[in-house]
Amino acid sequence: MSINIIHLKQTESTNTYAKDLIKLGNTLPDYTVIIANCQTSGRGRLSREWHSQEGSSLTMSVVLETPLVPAMTLLCGIALSRALNRLTESDGFSLKWPNDVLAENKKVAGILVERFLDFTIIGIGVNVNNNIFPEGIKNKATSLRLLSGKEFDIQALAELTVEALEQVFTEYGYGFSDRAKSEYAALCVNLGKEVRFGENFCQKGIVTDIAADGSLIVKTENGDGCIAAGEVFVSGIY
Ligand code: BTN
Repeated sequence: MSINIIHLKQTESTNTYAKDLIKLGNTLPDYTVIIANCQTSGRGRLSREWHSQEGSSLTMSVVLETPLVPAMTLLCGIALSRALNRLTESDGFSLKWPNDVLAENKKVAGILVERFLDFTIIGIGVNVNNNIFPEGIKNKATSLRLLSGKEFDIQALAELTVEALEQVFTEYGYGFSDRAKSEYAALCVNLGKEVRFGENFCQKGIVTDIAADGSLIVKTENGDGCIAAGEVFVSGIY
């Protein structure tokens, strides 16, 4: 596949850059990729900051013109774990609902899917060759390099990720079919686990299933519930 890749030395956020391109009326073929060597204001889910290390992290956005895809983040998680498996020639990655990629129970990558007009912007941040993390996240974050002692090629990971996204959307379409769910379920650390969620994390339950829209089905003492958004603490992880 020939991909339209825009390489930037520095930008605020590749997702924001993608939105600006769309706003300006640029023609963006599907799988247009924006990669930055450095993000000055990287964004994570729930309005958090996304930390990356200049030249050591993958920070990229992939633009697709799609309808609204409710389980998009989960489909992207499947693709990113496939790409990471191929790059590292291992299979030690798992997914923490909805957007974290873990290895050894620490966060190695995150996904931020945003809608803008008729477009879906898939923001992907991977800690590739990072060797240091800020105090606030150092206990829960890791990188491919810290995990393996090896350095990896960031451009190669970007290409494998785009390839895997295309593969997943070709195989599963934009829906969360039973086949997509079963691949996701095999990777998902939340399933079958006790989780805490809701305001101040005061609700708890066991995750029993994942719905077609990508939300978690939870069995609580008050019956079955559903978690569609927000943060979830998984017992024994974070
Ligand atoms: C998260 O884990 O909360 C999501 C992190 C997503 C980070 C990526 S880095 C590339 C793209 N640009 C951003 O500002 N965020 C995403």
